[in-house]
Amino acid sequence: MVRWFKPVVFLACLGPLARLGWRAYSHNLGANPIEFITHSTGDWTLIFLLVALAITPLRKLTGQPWLIRYRRMFGLFAFFYVILHFMTYIWLDKFFDLHEMLADVTKRKFITVGFTGFLLLIPLAITSTSGWIRRLGGKRWQALHRLIYCSALAGVIHYWWLVKADIHKPLEYAVVLGLLLGYRIVVWVGPRFAHKTLTPNRLEVPSH
Ligand code: HEM
Repeated sequence: MVRWFKPVVFLACLGPLARLGWRAYSHNLGANPIEFITHSTGDWTLIFLLVALAITPLRKLTGQPWLIRYRRMFGLFAFFYVILHFMTYIWLDKFFDLHEMLADVTKRKFITVGFTGFLLLIPLAITSTSGWIRRLGGKRWQALHRLIYCSALAGVIHYWWLVKADIHKPLEYAVVLGLLLGYRIVVWVGPRFAHKTLTPNRLEVPSH
């Protein structure tokens, strides 16, 4: 892949933040700017999580191994946007009111599940470097990084539970996540199933 492509993708990932900045500068964040920023950063967190999860299936289905070089970037951008999302909540929405935040996290179930999704992303962001892959070993690192599915699932449930009536958008995210999870399950279960059914003692011995 050409050398300039990665910086271009990096800049494109900053697009949603630039758009928010531009809208804030031109006083175009709608009647409720905090809500606008919360929704936009929440949406982009989920989008980047799903894009990061789509890299492996895309790489395998299209036979384009270079795509793997973008997975970490997308995962880290999901973390970047969830930090902005979380900061919007604790700073602009709650003004660092710890009591109110604790009450929210413990009593409003959509916040509890969103917070769980956020916590799950922290060890993944910390261990995203090659140094940590070496320290943990490939197998353990991979097992830990499967938590990204749990975080995305928590994100979808968080969204589903917060919408009052129209479940259209959370449903779209749920379908995409379901397909990505389904792909993983097929890839994982398929060869094991084939191995079990085709082991020599189960093969039919042709009669002469
Ligand atoms: C993996 C973690 C998370 C994901 C993927 C996520 C995603 C989302 C999404 C997609 C939305 C709705 C956006 C829209 O309406 O278009 C949203 C809204 C929201 N999120 Fe999160 N979120 C996460 C974590 C959190 C955390 C940790 C908090 C706060 C503790 C939080 C607080 C909120 C609030 C207050 C709203 C707006 C609710 C409303 O409209 O009444 N989220 N989030």
